Amino acid sequence: MLDETGFNLWADNYDKTVAFCEEEDEYPFAGYKTVLNTIYRRIRLGHGKTVLDIGFGTGILSKKLYDDGIRIYGIDFSEEMIRLAQEKMPDATLLRHDFSGGLPAVFQDKRFDYIVSTYAIHHLTDEEKIVFLKDLQNHLTEDGEILIGDVAFGTMEEQDSCMQRSGEEWDDEEFYIVAEELAKHFTGLKFQKISHCSGVCIIK
Ligand SMILES: C[S@@+](CC[C@H](N)C(=O)[O-])C[C@H]1O[C@@H](n2cnc3c(N)ncnc32)[C@H](O)[C@@H]1O
Repeated sequence: MLDETGFNLWADNYDKTVAFCEEEDEYPFAGYKTVLNTIYRRIRLGHGKTVLDIGFGTGILSKKLYDDGIRIYGIDFSEEMIRLAQEKMPDATLLRHDFSGGLPAVFQDKRFDYIVSTYAIHHLTDEEKIVFLKDLQNHLTEDGEILIGDVAFGTMEEQDSCMQRSGEEWDDEEFYIVAEELAKHFTGLKFQKISHCSGVCIIK
C-alpha cells in the first residue's frame, strides 16, 4: 500500500497511469472515468453548493465541480497532490491531513451537501471505514449524500472472481467495499456497479 511519499512520487504521472490502466479495462482502474462521471452527474443533478473531497489527488473530479461554481473543500496527505490540485483550483480549501485519523479539527463543525471520495478510502480497513463513514454522516446537510467511487463489488463472489482474474496484480493490502457487507451498517445504502472491478456507493 502506498504511503504519503509514494503518492508524492506518483503525483506527476498519476493521470497518465490511470488513463492507461482504464483503457486496458484492467483492475484496478477499469471504469475509472465512468465512476467519476457518475458522481459528477449526480451532484450536478442535485442542488448542492458544497463538496468535501476525501483524498482528492490531482483533483480530476473536484476540478470539474469547481469550474461549475461549486465550493470545494478537500483533504489529502500528499503535498505533491495538493500542489497540483491547488494550482487548478486556487480558491478551493485543500488541507494536508491523514484521514485515517478522521476529519481535521477545522471541519468538525462543518456540513457539506456532498462528501465524495474516489479511489482513496480503500486505504482504511473495513472496520475503520465504518467508523469514518458514520462520522461523515454527521457532516452532511439535510438531504446530503456520501458518494464513494472506488474499486468495489456488489458481493464477495464478485470480489473473489476479480481477485482470481487479476492474479499477481491484486493488492491484498487494500480493503475494497463489498456493498452487501457495508449495507449491513448503513441502511438504504445503494450500489451502482460500473465495471468488473468498480462501482459507486451512495449513503445518505
Ligand atoms: C489513488 S489516488 C485517488 C485520487 C483521486 N481521488 C482520483 O479519483 O483520481 C488516492 C489519493 O488519496 C490520498 N490518500 C491515501 N491515503 C490517504 C490518507 N490516509 N489520508 C489522506 N489522503 C490519503 C493519496 O495521497 C492520493 O491523492
